[in-house]
Amino acid sequence: MSVTFNGKYLDGFVSADEFSNIYPQVETAHRIVTDKTGAGNDFLGWLNLPFDYDREEFARIKKAAEKIRGDSDVLVVIGIGGSYLGARAAIQFLGSEFYNDLNPLKIYFAGNNISPDYLNKIIKLCEGKRLSVNVISKSGTTTEPALAFRVFKKLLEDRYGKREAAKRIYATTDKARGTLKTLADREGYETFVVPDDVGGRYSVLTAVGLLPIAAAGFDIDKLMSGARKAAEKYAVCTPDNDCYKYARARNILMRKGKSVELMACYDPDWTMMNEWFKQLYGESEGKDQKGLFPASVIFSTDLHSMGQFVQDGARIMFETVVDIKSPNCDYYLEPDSENADGLNFLANQNMSIVNNNAMRGTILAHTSGNVPNIVIELDKKDEENLGEIIFFFEKACAISGYMNGVNPFNQPGVEAYKKNMFALLGKPGYESRREELLKKLGE
Ligand code: PA5
Repeated sequence: MSVTFNGKYLDGFVSADEFSNIYPQVETAHRIVTDKTGAGNDFLGWLNLPFDYDREEFARIKKAAEKIRGDSDVLVVIGIGGSYLGARAAIQFLGSEFYNDLNPLKIYFAGNNISPDYLNKIIKLCEGKRLSVNVISKSGTTTEPALAFRVFKKLLEDRYGKREAAKRIYATTDKARGTLKTLADREGYETFVVPDDVGGRYSVLTAVGLLPIAAAGFDIDKLMSGARKAAEKYAVCTPDNDCYKYARARNILMRKGKSVELMACYDPDWTMMNEWFKQLYGESEGKDQKGLFPASVIFSTDLHSMGQFVQDGARIMFETVVDIKSPNCDYYLEPDSENADGLNFLANQNMSIVNNNAMRGTILAHTSGNVPNIVIELDKKDEENLGEIIFFFEKACAISGYMNGVNPFNQPGVEAYKKNMFALLGKPGYESRREELLKKLGE
């Protein structure tokens, strides 16, 4: 079993009775998801993706990835939110934060912020390099990626001419609608589809994630096969369904007054997976003045910054620890004849044993400090395990959201900042809001 729910450290926080008493709610949520009768049910396409994806497009993704690896030194992936986090998280999980230092194809992510400094640095990194761009936007109208794409489109056209530039631009967007789709058709870019029934934060197993992941050299067949394994495993509602056990545990803890779910992992390769998780859960559940606030740490690093708060600060949180069972490459600690640092008690064993004991010690310390710990175990860092855990968290998120009575597939709250930003920037149609806001700002 590669992904497993371990509820051992919930002892004293969640009783067996509570765990079974909430089970009927999971059954209801499961029915809502399976029968597609809940709010947002037209965004359940991700459920079938592991079985039912477009094989022709999948083959084109692999071909495009090969072409990029052959004719480019740099791939700039342009997108924001669900249109970039999954790919970035997967590449870091499988290839580490040093991916670009260790591989000939450098992958940079642009269009996920509006910082001119950030953009200028990526432009600099592209100087003198053979370049391709994958622009990803389901709506095709999101400001951040659209702005970045303007810049890279011009850069490519200036460098290669319009015709060759078009061969180096890959657009992942809606199959029929939106500015990006219109532009891609007009300019002749190769296009990939974000299915209508898959929302951004659930889209990592579509071309949105698959093209950058394949371009990075990872095996997307194995990724899909891991997701398929999870989809089969969690297809039926039983008391033993690990994915649903996680949904039950976090809902019980929330209703007992916990307001923060702190995802913790003892491997920095999980850092961007933390970010992916935070978007998935934050955007899916944080609405109607409800939801757990998803936060994250990487241990033992953050034990030296956030550890104090977790152990002893306001008792508002529980932890979800992702325990990656084996490193891909362990490190044997040799004894030192002088032992000047007194560390010989750690010698003659693999470093993963030290890391594992740091984890076990921390879980015991945090639980005795009144922080319940859920542990999700994962065998190792490879494509199969990644596909499995992606699907695990996606399904648990949908089930959890329905248990908490929200629509897990919309995000009405993200519009507020956009309207204000457009108004302040003088976008036509926002004149009266602009006046209101300027008054509030005292300008
Ligand atoms: O999950 C979501 O729906 C969002 O995070 C979107 O992915 C994000 O806003 C980007 O949208 P788009 O792909 O339309 O540019």
